Amino acid sequence: MISELAQIIMQLVNDRYEIQGIPVLDIAQQFGTPLYVYDADKIVDKINQLRNAFSSVDLKIKFACKALTNVSILKLMRQNGVELDVVSPQELELGLHAGYEGSQITFTPSGVSFDEIETAVAVGSIINLDNLIVLEKFGQRFGGTVPCMIRIKPNVAAGGNAKIMTAHEGSKFGIDIRQREDILRIVNQYGINVVGLHQHTGSDIKEANAFVRAADVIFNFAKDFPNLKIIDLGGGFKVAYKEGDPITDMPALGAKLSEAFLALSEQLGRKLQLWFEPGKFLVSESGILLVNANVVKSTPNRTFVGVNSGLNHLIRPMMYDAYHHIVNVSNPVSTQLKTYDVVGYICETDTFATDRPLTEVHENDTLALLNAGAYGFTMSSQYNSRFRPAEVLVYQGKAHIIRQRETMEDILKNQVLLEL
Ligand code: LLP
Repeated sequence: MISELAQIIMQLVNDRYEIQGIPVLDIAQQFGTPLYVYDADKIVDKINQLRNAFSSVDLKIKFACKALTNVSILKLMRQNGVELDVVSPQELELGLHAGYEGSQITFTPSGVSFDEIETAVAVGSIINLDNLIVLEKFGQRFGGTVPCMIRIKPNVAAGGNAKIMTAHEGSKFGIDIRQREDILRIVNQYGINVVGLHQHTGSDIKEANAFVRAADVIFNFAKDFPNLKIIDLGGGFKVAYKEGDPITDMPALGAKLSEAFLALSEQLGRKLQLWFEPGKFLVSESGILLVNANVVKSTPNRTFVGVNSGLNHLIRPMMYDAYHHIVNVSNPVSTQLKTYDVVGYICETDTFATDRPLTEVHENDTLALLNAGAYGFTMSSQYNSRFRPAEVLVYQGKAHIIRQRETMEDILKNQVLLEL
């Protein structure tokens, strides 16, 4: 009995029912659901955690904005001295729109046409070149006039699941380190100005050692580039989606990598800059998805909570079997936990959680899916011709709308009704 109570109290303490003192339920009532809500303080806190862990090196943080591209979030990043990593000309445009200079934005595309690279060069962005063909084209087009970086695939397998691993032997990303001689041949042939080496191992990386192993490969190669100023170790830090999940021990990783990085700088006799491109680490925990229970449906063997959202708004559970903690915000203090399957309203299997203990759910209750700030809205769609959610940012103690809810106009926009 006591341990059950302790468990409930623990849950109360751990779960977030307020953001910067504003009850989440008030936010849901004010703006409606489904709704993404982000906590600006949480983002700033994560930025500071990363900075503190790497305080002994010259660190630059480039937010991998594919995780969350709302321009107000990008502006918040800029306000806090965080630059951007983008993967498409459209993300680049969003960065410029948020007030960044092109030179503060790194373009890290994968297998794009050379036009896209030229577009990014034209606004002064630095490019991470990820294949030999494009490296050669870059040399032919720009010679040594435009500084660039090279994305290396270190052949280190790490990441939360196969879909989000990017640096293992079979991965499409980067230039395989075993092609180092080809890289050097092309660089020398065209006098390409390589100022940085980049690698990104994957997402949700549990083992700190994976970062160290990948960094080792890059550090070794660095010696071959006399103009090198930057080592970019990508993103991929692990956040906790569920109680007890392992996370990246940032202070320990910072100490370990910084030491190796400073040793490299000393060995090369040059001050280098260390870059990271975190996505999840900066924004995942800042965001929740608020949904409403449309129906509580009992069947002989399970009880379903059907909510006004689905894989069209948060695809991570269906796509990666990802766990998102769920809180019944309307009934936070009940001592009775029941087991539910929380499902979406999309017309295919669309499950947020299976066999999940929640405080008793009633029709119209608001549920919060936690840790939904990264790859939530940005991977949402209009599937089933439903509107994507609105977005709210809680900034300096006030909830601000940062994306209006879609309307039928958004769904019909660009569609052409033929005269038949
Ligand atoms: N840099 C590059 C080159 C990347 O491809 C990525 C993520 C990042 C940085 C940021 O990784 P992060 O710190 O967010 O782990 N949609 C998946 C994650 C895909 C990650 C793709 N690349 C998910 O929801 O788990």
